[in-house]
Amino acid sequence: SVLIIDFGSQVTQLIARRVRETGVYCEIVPFQKAEEGFERLQPKGVIFSGGPDSVTREGSPRAPQAVFDSGVPILAICYGQQTLSVQLGGVVEGGHAAEFGRADVEILKASPLFEGIWEVGKKYPVWMSHGDRVTVAPEGFEIIGVSPNAPFAICVNEEKRYYTTMFHPEVVHTPDGGKLLANFVHKIVGLKSDWSMAAYRAEMVQKIRDQVGDSKVICALSGGVDSSVAALLIHEAVGDQLTCILVDHGLMRKNEANEVVAMFREHYNLHLIHVDAVDRFVGELEGVADPETKRKIIGRLFIETFEEEAKKLGGADFLGQGTLYPDVIESVSFSGGPSVTIKSHHNVGGLPERMNMKLVEPLRELFKDEVRVLGKELGLPDSFIGRHPFPGPGLAIRCPGGVTKEKLDILREADAIYLDEIRKNGLYDVIWQAFAVLLPVQTVGVMGDGRTYEFVCALRAVTSVDGMTADFYQFDMNFLGKAATRIINEVRGINRVVYDVTSKPPGTIEWE
Ligand code: XMP
Repeated sequence: SVLIIDFGSQVTQLIARRVRETGVYCEIVPFQKAEEGFERLQPKGVIFSGGPDSVTREGSPRAPQAVFDSGVPILAICYGQQTLSVQLGGVVEGGHAAEFGRADVEILKASPLFEGIWEVGKKYPVWMSHGDRVTVAPEGFEIIGVSPNAPFAICVNEEKRYYTTMFHPEVVHTPDGGKLLANFVHKIVGLKSDWSMAAYRAEMVQKIRDQVGDSKVICALSGGVDSSVAALLIHEAVGDQLTCILVDHGLMRKNEANEVVAMFREHYNLHLIHVDAVDRFVGELEGVADPETKRKIIGRLFIETFEEEAKKLGGADFLGQGTLYPDVIESVSFSGGPSVTIKSHHNVGGLPERMNMKLVEPLRELFKDEVRVLGKELGLPDSFIGRHPFPGPGLAIRCPGGVTKEKLDILREADAIYLDEIRKNGLYDVIWQAFAVLLPVQTVGVMGDGRTYEFVCALRAVTSVDGMTADFYQFDMNFLGKAATRIINEVRGINRVVYDVTSKPPGTIEWE
């Protein structure tokens, strides 16, 4: 296996992801626990991540001496390069112009690190992000790659098998980075590809069993990929010790709650409680227009409803959640970092403390596309795996202005027609997320011989990789015309349709 020592970079998980893609098992440990992690795992190779600190600051993080003493190969990235350099007797200085973004590295000498990938004398694009730089390499090290602002872009000690880079090979902006990591893992550390999602599944099942023992677990199921995969994994691990609760808040898409319940009961024989809380949610949301107030009401009602159901079951010691790695980074930066809360995301936060439950989060290390692979592995139907993301507060945040039962019903119909057209035209999998929004605006129209005065429906469709940024989808106008005609003809209450051509930023994907 490979051990990744995390010095706090935002992209450490990407290193793990790239290593997993090479078919090799790896684990991440924070630098504070690196020594015990190294001892426990006995890895064949170690990677030091980047990090936000400066090695020139007193008390800044260091790698455990045991790693150097063991003689295993090391790949040290960015901050990792700097700490390795000072720990082995080199010098790092601050005060240089910080460098962010693309740079071109010129290769000065061949190395197993880029065997078969990069040639001597040529230049290759990489992604840099750093303030400090190494100014004197430790003894035995040699510079084998340079860029205009990074004289120590690649600095290695081939004999000891220590490889250090000032750039980040793990990010997509270093196009060959995945191959460099594969070379490190296969050629330098010498590990074979024998790890897969099937192995991950088996490992997680064992971990869940160890964590949960004989205790009871409850899970909130929404029908989304994340909560579904988490529930299936926990179900595989502890069977009937798991109960899932689906809170139907009346804010889901057409037929969604029933489809989800049917699928889980039929295919998985999983214990699932379907709670009809439609009147409760829609009643409290009646007339509420402020987006954050909607989210707060929904969050609170969700917790209350879930808690009541859990009490009926006699409580549980564990709460299963489909938290993914990007959620983990986001919530860390939301609570402590400089980034601001754009929208308060709805989840079951607060419940575990209130009910004194511990968390089971088997997907914490994975990215969305990896969760999809795992879902396939667990036999989840494609219609579930490929589902567009759907926000926890559901259709409530797609009814700007006050929410009413009537508006929700109109919106649900329009949304179903829009998605039906998207599916029929083979566009569902090309689009990242598509939905209808019911605007609190009435306009005049003419249908048959009569004047109409009804709502406007906005259609939204975006492409995205992770939802952080997005482009509006460029439909063929004929498609939009057809979808609009169907919505206006088939849905009472809508007489005009518009298409949203805003990207993110400056817009967000949802309207609220
Ligand atoms: P925005 O609108 O922020 O959305 O560009 C990015 C992604 O997050 C989803 N989203 C939410 N998901 N609770 C959720 O669980 C929320 O409150 C929430 N708000 C937005 C949105 O659907 C998109 O996929």
